[in-house]
Amino acid sequence: MAELFTPFTLKSITLKNRIGIPPMCQYSAGEDGVVNNWHKQHYAELARGGAGLVVVEATAVSPEGRISPNDVGIWNDQQADELAKIATSIKENGSVPGIQIAHAGRKASANRPWDGDDHLAEDDPRGWDTIAPSAVAFGANLPKTPKEMSHADIERVQQNFVDAAKRALDAGFEWLELHFAHGYLAQSFFNRDANQRTDEYGGDKEGRGKFLIDTLKAVRAVWPQELPLTARFGVIEYDGRDEETLEESIWLIKEFKDHGLDFLSVSFGFSTPDVNIPWGPSMLAQTAERVRRETGLPVASAWGFDKPQDAERAIAEQQLDQVLIGRAYLANPRYTYQLAKALEVENPSWVLPAPYAHWAGRY
Ligand SMILES: Cc1cc2nc3c(=O)[nH]c(=O)nc-3n(C[C@H](O)[C@H](O)[C@H](O)COP(=O)(O)O)c2cc1C
Repeated sequence: MAELFTPFTLKSITLKNRIGIPPMCQYSAGEDGVVNNWHKQHYAELARGGAGLVVVEATAVSPEGRISPNDVGIWNDQQADELAKIATSIKENGSVPGIQIAHAGRKASANRPWDGDDHLAEDDPRGWDTIAPSAVAFGANLPKTPKEMSHADIERVQQNFVDAAKRALDAGFEWLELHFAHGYLAQSFFNRDANQRTDEYGGDKEGRGKFLIDTLKAVRAVWPQELPLTARFGVIEYDGRDEETLEESIWLIKEFKDHGLDFLSVSFGFSTPDVNIPWGPSMLAQTAERVRRETGLPVASAWGFDKPQDAERAIAEQQLDQVLIGRAYLANPRYTYQLAKALEVENPSWVLPAPYAHWAGRY
């Protein structure tokens, strides 16, 4: 019996297996941030591929919160109406529809990865002014200095998250993920270097955690109790201060839990270019297991869990409650079938919908 193919229930939602497809930006919208045929086909295909959960890519809560001019947004009704079609299609194709809502902070106003992955040039008409906890640039490929957020900016962005959550709910999403990771706005509030504020939003871990906790609380107030409210958070940077960062992160995650977070996607901070990440298979397994044990929250993680035995081990050894697999699904949207075969699941083709399963099993 493959543990990877056991169901997982969180609040009123039951996922048919422990495989989640994490948010992956397609950078394929127009400047209006509206999803188009690319996204519709992409997400339907992923949902047909048999994973229990499909999380729609980082979806900006405001225009300035996009990473690139081609990001998807959820700050107006037209965007939400088109996203609703994706939520419906993910559901009709057998998966649970999730969405990640995001603000890119000082990493915003950038070129797509395949166009350079750097900040748009100052004179590029598609660019915009960025905001962050402090007027400190990320550096390296993202040298643009952001504006330090005023209290009015903070309140506005928190309201943007609340409005985005309401729109996501109305659009039919059943699993909400707050993007608190990867050096974007929320993560940079918690990071000691990015956040140099001297007011109540900076300083010690309580101050640096305030923006994230307040945002979570405000979203929880509008997101139904029976539906999973989740976050992706970078618990470690690999910047040489890893134990200290991890301890502070675990403190913050316990606060999240006390304020209604149901589930955490454990990831990296990516708050500074000066890191030395030891890339490898299952690389966050032990860190995620520690977060799970010390906080009591169910957790998922991505980054190198795509090999069948690695994915199975992480679930069987209770390091993770869910394995996130990204790029393998871009290469092969029916990757679940490959996992099921490798793990000797009975009638493995039936992890796919019947019109594929019946024939794939005879092929
Ligand atoms: C094309 C692409 C886009 C991504 N976009 C996002 C995103 O929108 N939000 C996010 O939290 N992570 C994003 N990531 C990170 C993935 O969610 C995932 O963590 C990463 O691909 C590692 O998992 P893997 O080794 O299974 O691919 C992206 C990764 C890729 C490859």
